[in-house]
Order: sequence, then C-alpha cells, then structure tokens
Amino acid sequence: MNTKKIIIAIDGYASTGKSTLAKSLSAHYGYFHIDTGAMYRAVTFYALECCRISNRLLDYQKLIKNLESLRIDFKLIDSQSRCFLNDKDVDREIRTMSVLQSVSEISAIKEVRSYLVNQQRILGKNKGVVAEGRDIGTVVFPNAECKLFLTATPQVRAKRRYKEMKQLQVSTQYRSVLYNLNKRDKLDKSRQHSPLVKAKDAIELNVSSKSVNQVFNCAKKIVDLKLKL
Ligand code: DC
Repeated sequence: MNTKKIIIAIDGYASTGKSTLAKSLSAHYGYFHIDTGAMYRAVTFYALECCRISNRLLDYQKLIKNLESLRIDFKLIDSQSRCFLNDKDVDREIRTMSVLQSVSEISAIKEVRSYLVNQQRILGKNKGVVAEGRDIGTVVFPNAECKLFLTATPQVRAKRRYKEMKQLQVSTQYRSVLYNLNKRDKLDKSRQHSPLVKAKDAIELNVSSKSVNQVFNCAKKIVDLKLKL
C-alpha cells in the first residue's frame, strides 16, 4: 500500500462529471473530497437568502462584509459527502435552478474567491485530497502533483445535468439546462479573476463518449503513475 499523499486537482467545464470522478477517486484512495463548486454555491445560496435588496438586486457589500461568518464544510452522511453552511445541511438547496442562475455572478466577486480559496487551501494543507472546480490546478493548488482537466460537448453535459436534476426532483427543462450551461461556460471563461483555463501541466480527458467507469480507470492510471514518482 502506497502511503504517499498527494493533491489531485480536477478542473473542467460544468457537468463533465468532475464530482462523480472526484467521489470515486477519493473513495478509492481514502482521500478527502473538496467540492469547491459546492462552496461557491453555498455562498450564492446565502446571498440569495440573506443579502437581497430586491427581487433582482443583491447587496454585494453585505455579502463581502459577512463572508468571514460563513462556515462551509463537508460531512459524510450515509457515505455521501454533503455540504453544510453554518452547521445546516444545504446540499439540496445549493443545487436548485435559482442558485445555478446566480452562482457565476457571485463566483466572479474577487473577495468571495479569495475567501474560498483560502478555506480550500486550509482543507488541503495535509494533502490526501481530491479537489474539484475551475481554478484548482491554476490558483488553489498550483503545485498539485496530479492535475486533470475534463471536457465534453455542451449537449452531453446538459443531458447529464438534466438527468441529475430530475433525480433530485428539481423541476426544470432540458433547454433551460443547456442555455444555463452555455452561459455559465462563457462567464467562467471570461471572468477577470481566476477564469476557467487548463493548467499547462494538466492532463486533458475528453469524456464525451466515455462511461463513468472508463473515466475512473483512465484517471486512476494517471494518479497511480503520479504516486510512483
Ligand atoms: O462545479 P459546479 O457546477 O458545482 O460549480 C458551480 C459554479 O461555481 C460554476 O458555475 C463556477 C463556480 N466555480 C468557480 O468559479 N470556481 C471553482 N473552483 C468552482 C466552481
């Protein structure tokens, strides 16, 4: 058994299966799973609940001022990692369409990013983590030993997300999922702070025509090689 602990960084477009892969890799290696998307969603959920000026407007100053009071962590419940915000399980609430519609806007705020990046680095300080997101290999853990970057066509990704939301009984339509996905891709890639880009030393995996198992096996081979180095 290899006792070496590394950081596995998984970045890529929305709905490419980063969470599914991160979950199976963390279970396989006994690593802690950091779902940074869930952290941005939890801050967005808080902003929508507590920082509204009107139906359309959010009070960014209030959000920035209150960031330090937000405690986001992950707990294993029935062997599933769930996201908690100030000790409340918000894992279902952070996956609704209303959170999805505002998360790109909130995750573009410089102060939100630096607060969460700091939290993520604390979670990964002892290594032995699988961290997934958009800026893990470039900003959060630029020295991660293993960096993967997942891609797939927008249609494949929208189908995945639509199926997932149906399973969670979140009411939506395929068309609006695809529209939201394309919009988020554009915002994630074009934002000023930590835009979504592939790290130079990341290995790209196109998962469009791969099963969950095939993606896991591909990633596992890469991680095993990195563990031997
Ligand atoms: O991976 P996800 O779909 O749960 O991420 C939700 C949003 O959070 C996504 O639109 C972009 C943002 N995000 C980010 O900006 N940086 C990260 N490291 C992770 C997610």
